[in-house]
Amino acid sequence: MSDTVCVVGAGQMGSGIAQVAAVAGYDVRLVDVAPNQLEQARSGIEASLARLVEKGRVEPGDAEAALGRIETASEPGPADLAIEAATEDVDLKLRIFRDLDAAAGDGAVLASNTSSIPITRLAAATSRPDRVVGMHFMNPVPLMPLVELIRGLETSDEAAGIVRAAAERMGKTVAESRDYPGFIANRILLPMINEAVYCLMEGVGNRESIDTVMKLGMSHPLGPLQLADLIGLDTCLAIMEVLHDGLGDSKYRPCPLLRSYVEAGRLGRKSGRGFYEYG
Ligand SMILES: NC(=O)c1ccc[n+]([C@@H]2O[C@H](COP(=O)([O-])OP(=O)(O)OC[C@H]3O[C@@H](n4cnc5c(N)ncnc54)[C@H](O)[C@@H]3O)[C@@H](O)[C@H]2O)c1
Repeated sequence: MSDTVCVVGAGQMGSGIAQVAAVAGYDVRLVDVAPNQLEQARSGIEASLARLVEKGRVEPGDAEAALGRIETASEPGPADLAIEAATEDVDLKLRIFRDLDAAAGDGAVLASNTSSIPITRLAAATSRPDRVVGMHFMNPVPLMPLVELIRGLETSDEAAGIVRAAAERMGKTVAESRDYPGFIANRILLPMINEAVYCLMEGVGNRESIDTVMKLGMSHPLGPLQLADLIGLDTCLAIMEVLHDGLGDSKYRPCPLLRSYVEAGRLGRKSGRGFYEYG
């Protein structure tokens, strides 16, 4: 079983992945190019573990031990399993996969938490396409029980098995998807969110009505605009662009209002303002 995990990208997803990996007993190297993200990630993980201890879901000693297993770094290093969770940008991810191929060690499995970028394309940037796998966690990682596992064209059964076992060791249930744009989760979820933004743009309803209809009428725990703010509007736009380019169907065209918000820097919770304002 793999024992060292290198997580590349210490944003909301990378820090959550580092947390669940450390709680599962892995030694974790958490990497980011932005030093302030690494600091924020460490304090975020500490606060998240403290909440889980309060709720009785993690023992105090285990939380402390997990924190002690996380080191932060500016570059990837040797690992049994590397999990890339950097910004949703294909050129950036291709560069990171080339770097991981050189840094992680010959036997390592390289996984990506991408929401929508083809795993086969990331795999082709490495010398080991058979050992590249999609490992798509859900947000917030410590609370959501699913990992979507995506096999690229060349992914071996062995590599897929290693990722499945790692996800299960982190307490997650695995569902497998084929490598098509958006996989299963975002092929279904993002067009709904995009349509909610169209409803807002066209004045079909205000943000409260749109979210209330979906929460109370459809039993969704969050409305689609609240969920978009949680995911990050830049990430939502990037996923819609991958669906639009990859499937070539105009039904996936990103809503212009979504694009405007991203251009304005209104990225959702992480920037303090999206469809809603955050303190
Ligand atoms: N937000 C979600 O709900 C969600 C859910 C599932 C998957 N994802 C996917 O997870 C990935 C990360 O999303 P996020 O929401 O955590 O984004 P985020 O913006 O919170 O974090 C991205 C991090 O990547 C870092 N980064 C950029 N270039 C880097 C590099 N070269 N090396 C190391 N780090 C680098 C940034 O500094 C930033 O800290 C994306 O691929 C996204 O599609 C997001």
